[in-house]
Amino acid sequence: MSLTFCNVHFSQQPEKVVYISNSLMKSLKLSGKKNIQLRLGKDMVNATVKPIKKTGKHLFLSSGVRSGIHVPNAGGVMLRNLQEDEVQLGPLIGVLSDGPSTSPSQPFASRTNFIKQLLREGKRKSYIFAFTPKDINWQQETVRGYFLNDNGTFYRKTVPLPDVVYNRLPSRKAETSSSINQLRERLTRKRIPFFNWSFFNKSDIYRLLEDDNTVNRYVPESHINPSPERIKDMLERHQFLYYKPSAGSLGKGIYRLTYLPKRGYFARYRKGGGNVLLRFSNFNSLMRMLKSRHGRTLETYVIQQGIRLVEIDNCPIDFRFHMHKNGSNKWVVVGVGAKKAGRGSVTTHLKNGGSLLTPEQALSRTFGDRSDEVLQNAKKVAITLAEAIEFHHQHLLGEIGFDLGIDQDEKVWMFEANAKPGRSIFSHPSLKAEGKASVEHILEHCLYLSKFRRRDVE
Ligand SMILES: Nc1ncnc2c1ncn2[C@@H]1O[C@H](COP(=O)(O)OP(=O)(O)O)[C@@H](O)[C@H]1O
Ligand SMILES: [Mg+2]
Repeated sequence: MSLTFCNVHFSQQPEKVVYISNSLMKSLKLSGKKNIQLRLGKDMVNATVKPIKKTGKHLFLSSGVRSGIHVPNAGGVMLRNLQEDEVQLGPLIGVLSDGPSTSPSQPFASRTNFIKQLLREGKRKSYIFAFTPKDINWQQETVRGYFLNDNGTFYRKTVPLPDVVYNRLPSRKAETSSSINQLRERLTRKRIPFFNWSFFNKSDIYRLLEDDNTVNRYVPESHINPSPERIKDMLERHQFLYYKPSAGSLGKGIYRLTYLPKRGYFARYRKGGGNVLLRFSNFNSLMRMLKSRHGRTLETYVIQQGIRLVEIDNCPIDFRFHMHKNGSNKWVVVGVGAKKAGRGSVTTHLKNGGSLLTPEQALSRTFGDRSDEVLQNAKKVAITLAEAIEFHHQHLLGEIGFDLGIDQDEKVWMFEANAKPGRSIFSHPSLKAEGKASVEHILEHCLYLSKFRRRDVE
């Protein structure tokens, strides 16, 4: 197999013919060939080959060829020759997301800017588009994608099913619907790599790692749907606990439960934009309050050992480790942001009054000149955790956002693994380059999965 970069041009003939410059003929080992099969995504067309004298690597596609495989536009792209007379243009990368759309220029709501950034970087070396589930036509096996113009606006083009799909569907609920399950199954059946498969549930991830001795030491003691006896026992063994919805996000519905012998039971949580702290003189009244606020939803809650995190000004700090698989299919830490909890807040979310720091700022107060060592160790742990989750998970993973804590003894703890991590850490002025690197890693991993990247080890 060989890979060549080339310039694609459009010509007007209705016949199915491709004009190929001499040096491109040579790189593709097509000398003497009369016909080739040209592929884009899942489409294929037969075309007559006409060599032309022109320096550089150029490919002229007649309109017959172009419409046969839905080539979206001219410009630089890769060619991959699969067999003697089969050449694939690409890669054709699809970014799957959805609204709710607030205006036609924001079809992917708050994700639109990130998607534009991906498309802007990606179009230099691929055909890349974004799409929503309803843009797929399963009868025709085509997608009506959103492509990006040079002036940064979307235009629509119909293209074949892509070579790889980066999943950024926004809704947990929609993602478990039968139509999305069917979408994933159909793509899998067509051998179209699809990452990441879906949102993670906290309890699924804890369970996945429970029996893995390389990583279970990093997960605080956790139990799904705990009985009151279990919660009481854990409160006596650990100073405080986190009680959180397994499929939650943004700190919603999270309680910090504390037991202080002689003083009673305390519950701290967020309510209507403020922080609440309640005291209960006995355990049963604490349980009654939780039950009255959530009812049977508590069955989907996890109870977890609380970890005493490093702090600045009495506010706990935790870390977002943004992980990607690179172009060689290896996990790397691409960006680390530190999050300092707002005063009195149970979580470090920026929405709940938290603030963003660099890891150096966050660690130097506690660890002084050992900070870098602590950070390097946490990065190693993050990679080990990512490898373990991937190993135990059924589907392709290319990106994980970890919420990690570091305690006073330098121990690293994993609170959560996010399969569709937010990008707010990259808004920190010192993390702009990491934000760009994150986008590049997604694209490189798409090249890897679609086999449009040289592999060191096949
Ligand atoms: N076991 C724990 N010990 C200490 N702090 C925790 C624990 N679990 C969660 N937290 C804090 O709460 C935040 C939110 O928890 P997380 O599990 O990430 O839920 P969410 O899905 O709401 O983001 C974490 O980033 C961390 O600051
Ligand atoms: Mg979190």
